[in-house]
Amino acid sequence: MRTQVAIIGAGPSGLLLSQLLDLAGVDSVVLERQSRAHVEGRIRAGVLEDQFQALLRRAGVGARMDAEGEIHDGIAIARDDRSLRIDLAGPTGGRGVCIWGQTELTRDLFAAREARGGAVLDEAADVALHGIDGDRPSVTFRRGGTEGRVDCDFIAGCDGFHGVSRRSIPPARLETWERVYPFGWLGLLSETPPVSRELIYAGHARGFALCSMRSAELSRYYLQVPAGTDPGDWPDARFWDELRARLPEAAAAALVTGPSIEKSVAPLRSFVAGPMRHGRLFLAGDAAHIVPPTGAKGLNLAGSDIHYLSAALIAWYGSGDTAGLEGYSEHAMARVWKAQRFSWWMTRLLHRFPEDPPFDRRLQEAEFDFLAGSQAAQAALAENYVGLAY
Ligand code: APR
Ligand code: PHB
Repeated sequence: MRTQVAIIGAGPSGLLLSQLLDLAGVDSVVLERQSRAHVEGRIRAGVLEDQFQALLRRAGVGARMDAEGEIHDGIAIARDDRSLRIDLAGPTGGRGVCIWGQTELTRDLFAAREARGGAVLDEAADVALHGIDGDRPSVTFRRGGTEGRVDCDFIAGCDGFHGVSRRSIPPARLETWERVYPFGWLGLLSETPPVSRELIYAGHARGFALCSMRSAELSRYYLQVPAGTDPGDWPDARFWDELRARLPEAAAAALVTGPSIEKSVAPLRSFVAGPMRHGRLFLAGDAAHIVPPTGAKGLNLAGSDIHYLSAALIAWYGSGDTAGLEGYSEHAMARVWKAQRFSWWMTRLLHRFPEDPPFDRRLQEAEFDFLAGSQAAQAALAENYVGLAY
């Protein structure tokens, strides 16, 4: 089969790219290793920057987000019993974020591709990239017992951190930067009302905790746990007790608990690979970079990559303009590194680093005190949290 852009991976990056290209008359085929049901069932992030919201509206998948998502114009940053409200709207000219789960977003994107007759081939095994150095690349795969092949002009590697695209670039042509943290986040989803209307990011001597949500009846909580923790060692009662111990008193007292409907551990990692282009292959989203979840930037960075990449491809097909494709890696990576800096800073501010000497612990306290006393520092946090300009 022949298409203009072969897209590997049907996560938010791949689906959104195929939708934006389609709306501009550019043809694509999406190849996804997992089943659609598997992809739609994954529980992931839930905080959308306003620019990403606008991109989704432009892609025609904003209606349910606008009707059911909740706009937040503040977050709480706590440390032991002190809690600080960070106003997001004031210092940013009225900007905010939308609480809308990636799970819901992915469902809307799949439905939109289906409604427009888009080719999204799930359960595609052994995806392999060929000819990315030349001008006739192709992708081969196996599906339902038969071999398939897609000939194309470009390949978009949107297949996440463990995908095949990044690994198809000769190692000598790709630089990587990485920081692995000695802890992860244990997440729990429960059908309980959120403890607070706004998110609470809580630093504590026992470790970090986050109170988040998906809706007025669905809460998402996280606890910092040592790397390699087995969720099986954390029955619900232990989770709730530990969460209460790490929250400021008022929040702990208000916490409504209930049975978990999902519980899992995610490792924390900062990772960047670049350049994000090799020949006719373009990397986007988690395939090129991972941020620790503390700044809520993972999904939003996928959004900015797709903003740059879709515009570049549409310009090339529209007028033969190569500037966007040539500048893609530089533009995308400039924003990625700033989000890496912010995510690292939030992570450093709020987690307990087991190897920290007492000096570093005092610095962490001073950082929180400075934030509490400085409008400028709070404004900088707000500016980053709602998202730097594309
Ligand atoms: N062949 C085909 N598909 C693959 C392959 C492969 N070899 N390897 C991985 N995939 C698929 C995965 O099954 C997944 O559905 O690629 C998709 C990648 O999706 P995500 O991991 O969601 O990455 P991305 O679309 O870039 O979204 C980034 O989503 O995963 C979160 O934390 C992440 O919030 C961030 C955002
Ligand atoms: C989430 O709701 O899953 C969530 C929210 C904010 C974060 C990370 C995760 O920073």
